[in-house]
Amino acid sequence: MTPRPSSPTVGIVGLGYVGMAAAAAFAHYGVRVVGFDLDAGRIQALRKGTTPILEEGLAALLRSAFASRRLLLSDSLADLAQRCEVIFLCVQTPATSDGAIDLSYLAQAALDLGRALHSVGKWRLVVVKSTVVPGTAEGLVSDVLKNSGPLRPGRDFAVASNPEFLAEGTLVKDALHPARIVIGVSEAKSSRLLRALYRRFPAPVRVLPVAAAELVKYASNAMLALRVSYANEMARLARKAGVDIDPVLTAVGEDPRIGPHFLRAGPGFGGSCFSKDVRALASWARDHGVETPVLTATLDGNELQALHVVELTEEALGGLSGRRVALLGLSFKPGTSDVRDSRAYPIMEALLRDGADVVLHDPHAADAFRHGLSPSATREIGQRLSFAPSLKAALRGADGAIVQADWPEYRRLPPHAWRTLRGRVVIDTRRTLARDRLRAAGVRCVALGVGER
Ligand SMILES: NC(=O)c1ccc[n+]([C@@H]2O[C@H](COP(=O)([O-])OP(=O)(O)OC[C@H]3O[C@@H](n4cnc5c(N)ncnc54)[C@H](O)[C@@H]3O)[C@@H](O)[C@H]2O)c1
Repeated sequence: MTPRPSSPTVGIVGLGYVGMAAAAAFAHYGVRVVGFDLDAGRIQALRKGTTPILEEGLAALLRSAFASRRLLLSDSLADLAQRCEVIFLCVQTPATSDGAIDLSYLAQAALDLGRALHSVGKWRLVVVKSTVVPGTAEGLVSDVLKNSGPLRPGRDFAVASNPEFLAEGTLVKDALHPARIVIGVSEAKSSRLLRALYRRFPAPVRVLPVAAAELVKYASNAMLALRVSYANEMARLARKAGVDIDPVLTAVGEDPRIGPHFLRAGPGFGGSCFSKDVRALASWARDHGVETPVLTATLDGNELQALHVVELTEEALGGLSGRRVALLGLSFKPGTSDVRDSRAYPIMEALLRDGADVVLHDPHAADAFRHGLSPSATREIGQRLSFAPSLKAALRGADGAIVQADWPEYRRLPPHAWRTLRGRVVIDTRRTLARDRLRAAGVRCVALGVGER
């Protein structure tokens, strides 16, 4: 698509999952984009055509963005600030150890940008795309910009919010076809500019006050996480009732007041966002004197579910002490190598605590998982914890296996291959294995949320 001459050039600061997706999507829809990341290695990798994360379709989308020359990378924030009228901050906003939002990366990016803008001498729109608690763009970001330049809000810059709703695993689809675009602005010029940028995206654009847009992101993730914890709680009940949770939740979701999405039981929610964002919102609520029992229950339910997986394993193997368990699928879900807050971590920790030996396997995320291990788990490597070089090696000699992330490699494994498990037991936390075929092959498949009568 050819850019309209009037379309502003967009700067993307922070080329992680969100920044790369935004850069590639804007370029796809004809907008000129300049990307910058503090991590020079990342810029170099992207220049060489390497995509630093595993996401279907992302490499091709980036390739075409670079080929069209609508996406350029810069080694300098000052250069980006000079060339771009609208600048998106897409840096990480992790959690502090007590669950609050850590805004230090965002503050640093705003400080660097403010210093760069000082010499630009032209008005810029600074858009916070990172997930932030309400009030951050108009508070912290605006204050840092103001003091770093020094710059005057209104004359030199405006701030806005544009939260991102994409999910890893479907990053490209979500970036190109978002369900909605939420824009938080405080004046007409910012609204006009952002609407113009999103003109070609096939999605409704909702314009809200800045803090409202920031809250939409948290309110959405809290709702999705809540539905997962609810589905998991119902799954634990279904097991006791001796029934299968899937048709139950399908029927529940057929009620239009409820809807079918995010009503699947599993090992619990993981990934970079749900837990972090729900905890950040709960912490922000505490700071503002608001009680949030629903958020607390959502998080507690998630922790319970990981332990439930371990209980199922213990029951099926008749104890865990001295047993060898293959934990299959280490990323937080298949289709991504992201292991942040993967449920494989608490499951592994609980297995080790209960005396099991654990052998880990993932077709794509084993290295990332190893980097994320706690110091105590790292010390267990070579003792009671090991990484299997292949799926076959993981199963050989293990008493049982747990499928945590159901990569196609596991779903497609012929039933007889599971027979190499000494105890011939597999715990299927996603209910995607062919249970009948496994049973016919003499392998017991314990499906989470399915009662065995
Ligand atoms: N990953 C997701 O699925 C997702 C979805 C929606 C929203 N979000 C939110 O979007 C934000 C970014 O998430 P992410 O997963 O892309 O993070 P990420 O960790 O993958 O990427 C962040 C990038 O920012 C860079 N960076 C940090 N400080 C910088 C600075 N001062 N200047 C330039 N670059 C800098 C880092 O080097 C890194 O490449 C977070 O707030 C997150 O909560 C993430």
